[in-house]
Amino acid sequence: MLESLGRINNPLARSVATAATVCSVVTLSTAMVIGFTNTKDKSAYQFGVYSSLFGAAAGAIFGLVYTSKSSENRSTPDIKTSDSHVWQDWRNFVVVRKVKESEEITSFYLQPEDKGEIPNFQPGQFLTIKLDIPGQNKPVIRTYSLSDYSKTCEYYRLSIKREPAPNGLDVMPGIASNFMHDHIQEGAVIPAKPPNGKFVLDVQKSIPAVLISNGVGITPMISMAKACTRLNPHRSVWFVHGARDGQFHAFQDEVMEIAQQNPNLNVHIRYSRPKPEDTGKYQSVGYVDATLVKELCRQEAEYFLCGSPAFTQSITEGLKELGVPNNRVFFESFGKPMKSESAKQTQTATTGEGFAEIVFAKSGKTLTWKPSDGTILEFAEANDINPPFSCRVGVCGTCVCKIQEGEVAYQEEPTATTDEGSVLICISQPGTSRLVLDI
Ligand SMILES: Cc1cc2nc3c(=O)[nH]c(=O)nc-3n(C[C@H](O)[C@H](O)[C@H](O)COP(=O)(O)OP(=O)(O)OC[C@H]3O[C@@H](n4cnc5c(N)ncnc54)[C@H](O)[C@@H]3O)c2cc1C
Ligand code: FES
Repeated sequence: MLESLGRINNPLARSVATAATVCSVVTLSTAMVIGFTNTKDKSAYQFGVYSSLFGAAAGAIFGLVYTSKSSENRSTPDIKTSDSHVWQDWRNFVVVRKVKESEEITSFYLQPEDKGEIPNFQPGQFLTIKLDIPGQNKPVIRTYSLSDYSKTCEYYRLSIKREPAPNGLDVMPGIASNFMHDHIQEGAVIPAKPPNGKFVLDVQKSIPAVLISNGVGITPMISMAKACTRLNPHRSVWFVHGARDGQFHAFQDEVMEIAQQNPNLNVHIRYSRPKPEDTGKYQSVGYVDATLVKELCRQEAEYFLCGSPAFTQSITEGLKELGVPNNRVFFESFGKPMKSESAKQTQTATTGEGFAEIVFAKSGKTLTWKPSDGTILEFAEANDINPPFSCRVGVCGTCVCKIQEGEVAYQEEPTATTDEGSVLICISQPGTSRLVLDI
């Protein structure tokens, strides 16, 4: 009943409704007592009237107080994913729109093939997709941040950078990203896992948020900026982004549109190599660094970083030097992440131990691993065992497998959550001389 009363938005209406409810309950109760006892005492009737009036007054006051409390709680709604729409494992999605955002980034809008509802997500989370690519001996699984946000989630948007081969290396360009750009058109069907990830912005907080990105690292930042400005518009947000020039700067208009609608969103764009025609699209020249970030936001804040590993590392270190505590800085790197000191020590300790026997139970192979073989995933692949993987950095959870015997040692701190007795083989090595895995 309290919940129903709590849903009445008008404070006066809620106060009257609560008063009437309490008054009726008290009147009914006293009438029943008088009826059962069959009393003729006049004071009993007076007691009934007075207690009903008192109940009405108390109800009216409670209604008012309850109003203000409940509306306070609703002012910054929590983002909850509706469990009923969450699916297990893979679900087919149709590409309903494909939009070029910049020279190298293209967005793909996905809706479920079954036309059912999809759960909303925490701003900053990612989607894991699976692609059947001709010439690949198994499906290619990759992870992409959700780059849009709306209160009613009707589609998922992934914005993917075409990954070229690294300069000076004679290797294939990025498999999945180039396939998406070149071969995935509107109407294509792609299996995806439910949204996941811990690099998320808590929109309910009031502390200013500084969103810092470069290149394609802008994708989770758009989602965070949109969620925050829509769900908690009083929170100050700084959007600091670095791009090479106007051609490589994705989502220019989209970000400016959010800023125009919300005066608490402050945007600063820095180009490293602006062209003459870029005038007006950026605020400063150079690379985004911690000094710029601190000059822009001089208050205590939370910092969210996304971009290349070198970028997140240099800004994290710079912020630390400028006195920002570690627990105020959150980052996600699309490449190999930084190693924490404890992870470095673990790795040194493990690699010093030497050989280990790994039994890959499902594959029926027992092999001898040595430190130069790298992670368990790399070792498995080198021996023609091909477990599924995506990020290879302990973020997405795709490579998780059960340990049947023995222990592992992580080289990085895992970001993805695993069950007791399971391991992310992309960032671990054997921790005992014998290890049996359910692969
Ligand atoms: C949490 C998370 C979120 C992400 N979000 C996004 C996002 O929003 N947008 C986005 O574009 N990306 C995102 N990524 C990155 C994305 O998952 C892929 O890693 C990226 O698209 C590259 O995949 P690919 O298959 O194209 O390249 P891969 O085939 O995996 O290759 C990667 C690079 O390695 C090079 N390479 C290939 N072989 C060799 C070799 N032998 N030696 C050295 N180099 C080699 C390739 O040329 C390429 O440059 C995210 C990653 C994570 C972990
Ligand atoms: S492949 Fe993503 S956690 Fe291992």
